[in-house]
Amino acid sequence: MTVVTQDRVKKQAAHHKRAATDHRRTPEMAQNLTAWQRYKLIWGYEVQNAVFRLVRRLPGINIDRARLEPLKSDHPHLTRWRKRPFGIPGKPAALADIPWDYIREHEDTIPFLGLREYWYPAMQSRDLYHNEPKPVTLLGDNLVFFRDANGKACALEDRCPHRSPLLSLGQVGVVAPGTITCRYHGMTFDGTGACVAFIADGPDSPACTTMRARTYPVEEFGGVIWVYMGDKEPEPLMKALPYAKDVFSHDTIIVSRNPLPFNHLNLLDNSADVAHPGILHRSCLLFAGQKVSGQVAVEEMENGGLMAKFVDDVPHPGAMHLDCTEWHLPNFIFHHPGDLGGDIGFGYAWVVPNDIGNSTFWIVLAVTKEKRWQRVLTAKMLDALSGKFASLSSSILGCLDGGDVPMMTSQGRVARWDLDRLARIDRGIIAARKKLKAAHAAERAEREAAGRPHPRIAPPLPPPG
Ligand code: FES
Ligand SMILES: [Fe+2]
Repeated sequence: MTVVTQDRVKKQAAHHKRAATDHRRTPEMAQNLTAWQRYKLIWGYEVQNAVFRLVRRLPGINIDRARLEPLKSDHPHLTRWRKRPFGIPGKPAALADIPWDYIREHEDTIPFLGLREYWYPAMQSRDLYHNEPKPVTLLGDNLVFFRDANGKACALEDRCPHRSPLLSLGQVGVVAPGTITCRYHGMTFDGTGACVAFIADGPDSPACTTMRARTYPVEEFGGVIWVYMGDKEPEPLMKALPYAKDVFSHDTIIVSRNPLPFNHLNLLDNSADVAHPGILHRSCLLFAGQKVSGQVAVEEMENGGLMAKFVDDVPHPGAMHLDCTEWHLPNFIFHHPGDLGGDIGFGYAWVVPNDIGNSTFWIVLAVTKEKRWQRVLTAKMLDALSGKFASLSSSILGCLDGGDVPMMTSQGRVARWDLDRLARIDRGIIAARKKLKAAHAAERAEREAAGRPHPRIAPPLPPPG
């Protein structure tokens, strides 16, 4: 005899109700959902996953060791293949073109993908969470970043050595904390690139002793994750980038990262060009006192940099102006205190090649006001105003987004140096190009001597998102 209690009736009713509304069970059931049920289902999962993702980003959290999350077909790391590689609606196709013939003809002499034996900023530390892989394309290489069990940032080639899908589609912390697991068959690597498990091949998988993922040296400094892209043993970051140390040692800095849809060489010319602010940026607050013309000279500096500066005696009309620009290999620019309006402090900019048609412009400002509260207030205000520095520039200063970026975009995805007719004012650019080409030739010669010729330039991967 079955005792039917009131409780049991309630439980059974609840069960039937759940079964009737559990639209995951069959497609037919899914057809019969009300709008409200669909809404609840979708948002229930979304909220659940969002909370889950948020919590597991915290250091030391490893709550899902046995669980592989479902991979959505609109995963952000995959959308790059869904979008048209270049050109967006409303933009002329001419802006989207990559001049492959020109590139093939000159790739031996012009570093279209940058110089390799250098440290580059990859992302801000705050953007690399725990338990979450992050893909970045640098110098044409696809990398995946993640944090190991100690929270240290690591970078591997974004390709599973087994059958080549993206490792960045995998998951961190499934096999052990701080390891990344390929989603295809479960090959798992630690931060040193060693294969620590191959789930599909069983616990005694011999692959673990032979397989390795390619790694890149990584250092974290000044709230930025730096990666060395060369093949040689790198100099420690602090030694290789003495200026970075100066800038980042200030207690108040603002870092902004601006992805740009053209080759880094478009930016090279812009960085070494002291003659354009008086014309292009004349409506921009920062260059309010800039004169419109002048003679430009170039000086080789003892520290290996190039200084392009105005040499004539005509003074700038106002306090805010740019007299000179200091340019260093591989492509970074240093503005001394005073160059940028004096009140802010040191300014640094790194140009990072991503692939043949994309680059990233990093701007670092060190606020050097006298009192700490002034520094903090200025930094907070700039940060609040900017979010991304590009928008600050565009709306407040009108320099980068409202000035340089349209110019450089309209030069084409890869500016054609062979069509340029350079003039007196371009002495800084001529010297910088020469230096860059010489460094490229030296790198190529060294690689060839070591039996590792420079890789041919591959068509780019469209940016994610
Ligand atoms: S492709 Fe990565 S584990 Fe098989
Ligand atoms: Fe500019």
